[in-house]
Amino acid sequence: MHGNESSSQSTRSLGLDLHLDRPSGPSSRALAEAIREAVRTGRLPVHSRLPSTRELAADLGVSRGTVTRAYDQLSAEGHLLVRQGTVPRVATAPPTGTSPTALPLTRRQTRLRWDLLPGKPDLSAFPRTAWARAQQRALRTTDAAELDYGDPCGHPALRTALAEYLGRTRGVHATAERIVVCEGHRHALAVLSTVLGELGAESIDFEDPCLPHLCEVPGRGGLRVRGVPVDGEGLDVTAVRGPAVVVTPAHQYPLGATMSQRRREALCAAAATEQRWIVEDDYDGEFRFDREPVGALQRLAPDQVVYSGTTSKTLAPGLGLSWLVLPRGLVGAVREVRTRLGLVPPVFEQLTLAEMLRSGSYDQHVRRCRASYRRRRLRIVSAIRESRTRHELYPAGIAAGLHLTLRLDPEGPSEERMLRRMRRHSVAVEGLSDHWMNERERQAGLVIGYAAPPGHAFDNSLRALMRALSPS
Ligand SMILES: Cc1ncc(COP(=O)(O)O)c(C=O)c1O
Repeated sequence: MHGNESSSQSTRSLGLDLHLDRPSGPSSRALAEAIREAVRTGRLPVHSRLPSTRELAADLGVSRGTVTRAYDQLSAEGHLLVRQGTVPRVATAPPTGTSPTALPLTRRQTRLRWDLLPGKPDLSAFPRTAWARAQQRALRTTDAAELDYGDPCGHPALRTALAEYLGRTRGVHATAERIVVCEGHRHALAVLSTVLGELGAESIDFEDPCLPHLCEVPGRGGLRVRGVPVDGEGLDVTAVRGPAVVVTPAHQYPLGATMSQRRREALCAAAATEQRWIVEDDYDGEFRFDREPVGALQRLAPDQVVYSGTTSKTLAPGLGLSWLVLPRGLVGAVREVRTRLGLVPPVFEQLTLAEMLRSGSYDQHVRRCRASYRRRRLRIVSAIRESRTRHELYPAGIAAGLHLTLRLDPEGPSEERMLRRMRRHSVAVEGLSDHWMNERERQAGLVIGYAAPPGHAFDNSLRALMRALSPS
């Protein structure tokens, strides 16, 4: 990097000491590549400021037009955020994706430029101001005594705020006593698997298809995992056998169906007679676009259903905050395991979320995201309908959530071929077929996360996706 003295220069504008390697000559393309490289290698971190065009031109001894063209190119690629009257900033993370905290998801990490991976909200939309305000309030008003080892099931203030919120928005029958704060749905599932194992369960049923890294969790805790087929109405209730079953009734992952009322009732009735726990994974229930969300399954059978919700889709997976609403019969056993493990999310994070819920800023943020994701979904679906590729791709599921599943025409290109095309165009999406446990049931398709790109990069991500979907 620093070896070639003749082609490197430092610029110190705005206190920024930026070392640029310029491959050759003063062209805007060479300058753009040098800045891109600095972003890629992490030397220019996300949100860092760049000099203005005038300052950088003066520092490097090139024309201002050269710098403007380089910045425009980087802005179009989504690397820079360039707005009239403000200093340019680095907009995207370097696409190396090696954050150590994300290690469990390594298979999903990508070096591809256009991030359309499912499961991620628009992290650039995180409500920093509202969060900071709520955190300030929590810091000001929390008694010193509350900073001691807390309740193993979570701070009572958060559990009270959640009970109100879940009753109001998802129709969940919840009281603070039945709520347990966890560090994400995966963590919640690990706790539940331990509890079920200690209560004598040997297996657990999961929808097939489902998210592979979730159904591996109970397996690691010693439970046998069985797949149960799903169709357009949700889970095939007659095929459930285990002492517990995990379902995504609001928006089946990844196929996107809502479980019909008939199936919901049948699932709850069978659970009552066969003494089975139902784990309701309500991972994106806040995001229904075509109509009011269907309420949670839990309200049909609060003594049978464990309701699991998370901030991973509404705020950010990195927060690591989620909750379970437990049937009365599991409260004692879960409390006992939590006490033994001693794991609770940090108290100020819990209290900040409680404040966001109480003040209404959580609702406001969810509403804003809902409107944005609804627009994004419409844009992708219309682009696909209008494209030449429409005979090969079938959008599956309801208008909801953060992802769109496209089934592939069996007569058209294979999933593998489509994924190769995606990689060639630097577009990160997931294949559908990997989501089945039963290999014979596997269907070809693509799972596209339209919420993931930051707002300013969505248009370019969509363009790249459509280029990749077009027959070459
Ligand atoms: C089906 C499903 N359930 C739950 C979650 C949330 O998991 P967590 O709260 O551990 O981030 C996800 C996130 O990708 C998901 O796709």
